Amino acid sequence: MGLIYANSFLRYKITSKENLLLVEKNEERRTVLSALDIGKVVTIDDALIRECNIIILAVKPQDFKLLAPELKEVISKESVILSIMAGIEMQYIQGRLNHALIVRAMPNLPVEISMGMTAFTSSAGLPHEQIMLVENLLSTTGRTLYLKEEQQLNAVTALSGSGPAYFFYFMKSLIDAGIRLGLDEHVASILAKQTMLGSFHLINNGQKTLDEYITSVASKGGTTEAALHTFNEGGMHELVIEAIANAEKRAKQLAIK
Ligand SMILES: NC(=O)c1ccc[n+]([C@@H]2O[C@H](COP(=O)([O-])OP(=O)(O)OC[C@H]3O[C@@H](n4cnc5c(N)ncnc54)[C@H](OP(=O)(O)O)[C@@H]3O)[C@@H](O)[C@H]2O)c1
Repeated sequence: MGLIYANSFLRYKITSKENLLLVEKNEERRTVLSALDIGKVVTIDDALIRECNIIILAVKPQDFKLLAPELKEVISKESVILSIMAGIEMQYIQGRLNHALIVRAMPNLPVEISMGMTAFTSSAGLPHEQIMLVENLLSTTGRTLYLKEEQQLNAVTALSGSGPAYFFYFMKSLIDAGIRLGLDEHVASILAKQTMLGSFHLINNGQKTLDEYITSVASKGGTTEAALHTFNEGGMHELVIEAIANAEKRAKQLAIK
């Protein structure tokens, strides 16, 4: 994720490689990163970190505990810490780093191709200008949404954070259904992908509501209605709601406060 961010910022020229520090603990990885020529590669004790206006925490949540004592020594009071670590609450980060200015963001996998969805929130007292600065960075990876309530990030994690997997799962089911009906895999795959893409653009650009679009496709006594009837009989709507609620519950259980 750290590399995705670095490349996204450079792609949109929101910063230059002269202004980008890549902090890497592993010597071998430092050589690899240096060869990419996308920023200055440093270790956590580098004095330049004190001059950074934004520091992105993109380590695995369980690695933060090890990183925090070292980072604490080198951050300036004015730097904004942008954490994309899943499930670590801002108050915990503030305590470990003895630092007030935090932005916490929850991106999702399509940030890889600048089509991500990132919801974010900020600690009390963070000036609007600094929030906008972080927003400008995050928006190089897709859409962004500011949330006032940190607790809502659990629902965000369950919906958009995990969301790509749900769509991949449904698409896989559609492809398998097509194969079972005698279609070649590549044919079923093209049909499923393009249908998903077209449906998204229709709902995003068209005038109707989701229910109206469902009715537009499902004529009385027709084929779509037969499929939707099976979904309803199997309780699919409620099942999806229950699944996302379980994901949110798990996010709450895993939260580090
Ligand atoms: N991937 C997603 O779709 C996604 C979505 C939302 C949020 N996130 C969050 O994004 C964060 C990063 O995820 P990821 O998938 O990019 O994980 P990742 O591939 O494991 O990347 C984490 C990187 O941090 C490095 N690291 C660990 N400790 C360090 C330290 N003390 N100093 C410097 N570097 C250190 C790791 O190096 P080593 O490998 O050498 O340990 C690794 O290169 C996680 O907190 C995750 O919760 C990810």
